[in-house]
Amino acid sequence: MSKSIVSAAVAGVLLALGSQAAMAAPDWSKVPKRDLHVFHAGVTPIEWATKKSDHSGSAGMRKGETCAGCHEEKGALNFNFKRLADKELEPKGAPKTMTFPVGVQAAYDAANLYIRLTFKAPGGGADKGDKDNDVKATVLFADTKVPQADQYGCWQTCHTDARTMPGADDKKTKYTKEGAYELIQWANKGNKVSDGSVAGERKMSGGTTGAKAQAEKSGDSYTVTFTRKNPGEGKAVPFGVAIHADHASGRFHHVSLGYKLGIGADGDIKATKQ
Ligand code: HEC
Repeated sequence: MSKSIVSAAVAGVLLALGSQAAMAAPDWSKVPKRDLHVFHAGVTPIEWATKKSDHSGSAGMRKGETCAGCHEEKGALNFNFKRLADKELEPKGAPKTMTFPVGVQAAYDAANLYIRLTFKAPGGGADKGDKDNDVKATVLFADTKVPQADQYGCWQTCHTDARTMPGADDKKTKYTKEGAYELIQWANKGNKVSDGSVAGERKMSGGTTGAKAQAEKSGDSYTVTFTRKNPGEGKAVPFGVAIHADHASGRFHHVSLGYKLGIGADGDIKATKQ
């Protein structure tokens, strides 16, 4: 048994053992951690973000500025959270905790990319649409055909007519107009792992990442470790993280802005070679 498994067992909560053989875990003590802050984004889909009269940042976006370039300050987010909780941008009601940090670590070897997320999932949610799961953790990786993926992160999948948006069809999932994202997700009920994609629609299976996940809970802290196929050394892959806390469904997640994951390449997060 590895050390982390022992300590989780001692803490009295062990969610998943996974297959140790299949998941030769990296030595996380040697992998730097960066906190990315996730936030409740209200109703601010890509159509909102790119519209001049809604979002003054849209002019800078057209000049090539990234969301994080304008909205990350001293490692945290500079949003006006009152505005994101207000009726204008959140007609249904906002969660009590608007933003929280997710520790992100990444490592790779020839076969796999490992991503480890550490976070405290807050209660006080406003939407408890997912009856089955307290918590879900999702990572999206953009392919090279998604326009401005490295600038806009997951916002290229987030549209005004997708389910849980005000007045939208409940069957319409998130989608891209061009290009695709790989989607990997861990959900706490039954430790379910999904290997999916977002293109013309969101699919929770049929993905090609070979995703596996291992999760531990200690107190109110979660550690979720994903193992997926290495996308390729030398690549910097645009990615984003979402946490559905307190039974949240659809858009009621806390999301990160877009970042680049460098695999033997430069990035906001650099995966450590094992
Ligand atoms: C050039 C700088 C710039 C860029 C790039 C930018 N924004 Fe903004 N954003 C702003 C400014 C300034 C505001 C404040 C008021 C406004 O909307 O005019 C704002 C407001 C917001 C708000 C509403 C909450 C608030 O603080 O008022 C959200 C949500 C938001 N931006 C998300 C994004 C996302 C997502 C992206 C990338 C897809 C992005 N922004 C890119 C400058 C920027």
